[in-house]
Amino acid sequence: MLNDYVRIMKARGWMKKNIPFLYTWHAYVGYELDLYEYFRKPKTISEVAQAYDLKLDLLERWMEVGLAIKYMKKMPKGRFRTSRSFMLPSGKKNPRSTGVILKEMMELHIPALLSYPAIMTTENKQTFDHDMHGGVVAQTSSLLEQAAYPVMHQIVKKKGAESVLDVGCGHAGYLIRLAKDFPHLKLTGIELNEGVANEARLRCRDYPELNIECRDAFEWNYAEKKDLVLINNLLHYIPHEKRPDLLKRASSWLGEAGEIIILTPMKHEKYGRQFSSVFNSFFSAFSNLHPIPGEGDVKEIAEQAGLHVSSIRPVIKEGGWFAVRLVK
Ligand SMILES: C[S@@+](CC[C@H](N)C(=O)[O-])C[C@H]1O[C@@H](n2cnc3c(N)ncnc32)[C@H](O)[C@@H]1O
Repeated sequence: MLNDYVRIMKARGWMKKNIPFLYTWHAYVGYELDLYEYFRKPKTISEVAQAYDLKLDLLERWMEVGLAIKYMKKMPKGRFRTSRSFMLPSGKKNPRSTGVILKEMMELHIPALLSYPAIMTTENKQTFDHDMHGGVVAQTSSLLEQAAYPVMHQIVKKKGAESVLDVGCGHAGYLIRLAKDFPHLKLTGIELNEGVANEARLRCRDYPELNIECRDAFEWNYAEKKDLVLINNLLHYIPHEKRPDLLKRASSWLGEAGEIIILTPMKHEKYGRQFSSVFNSFFSAFSNLHPIPGEGDVKEIAEQAGLHVSSIRPVIKEGGWFAVRLVK
């Protein structure tokens, strides 16, 4: 009897723990199909289903969940509208929409975590498809810019830097911010993924002095020395044993008084353990992505590259995201 009661309580506990999933699922579907935008003004479900060619029964189900979690609101005459839009992701057309984080979580992170039983018992890890996911990942990485850019701004200003190289620059968000704040800076970005590099060039079109090259950091060579080299959110693309080589190359592009800044999620005793552990679980599900470093690993690879760690500071404490500064 007691056993039955415990079973029920346990099952109830798991179901309750999973309720937050409803919110992310609803927001993900709402973002993907622009449903919050369609219901910005009160509309009936069949009106929207017809106008946008959506399955009526599924839209009804999505609406029921929305009403239950209060993301949607019932209006007179059988109509509904989006409620709490200030908390919800804006439409897909907005390149700054936070919906990309839902897309990355739902389409990449959760499926990868669900593959654990299969990949843990076989030789077959998944392969991360850079062409398919590169754009979304570059977009979600740029959400960190707001928090991390001030670190770069301060260093450029304090050092009186004249040139900056961004390795794995993604959509060039940091370079564009630097170009706006320091018009004299000579700015270069290298980016491996062609689609991402093209998008970066498009976004840089108002800054002709900002140069984006579609190149592999391990094959790129440059004679002119840089004052600052940025390596932002790149380490998990590089196997641990190749990281000293990347830093050696970065060091060779650096002037004597230059500095390398690495922005990376990191395993840390104190900060962001939940986030960094789940990030690591995600990266490890792919044969071509690699675990994030711990503080000791960063010091070790820096030493192997003949560099010195001058500081390690959290940028987003709860997310376990750090800025590491390296000097020669
Ligand atoms: C997660 S994104 C980060 C983008 C940007 N640095 C940021 O922090 O917003 C990492 C980028 O590095 C690029 N990348 C990976 N390996 C690279 C390599 N060997 N050389 C140049 N770029 C690389 C990827 O294509 C991807 O766009």
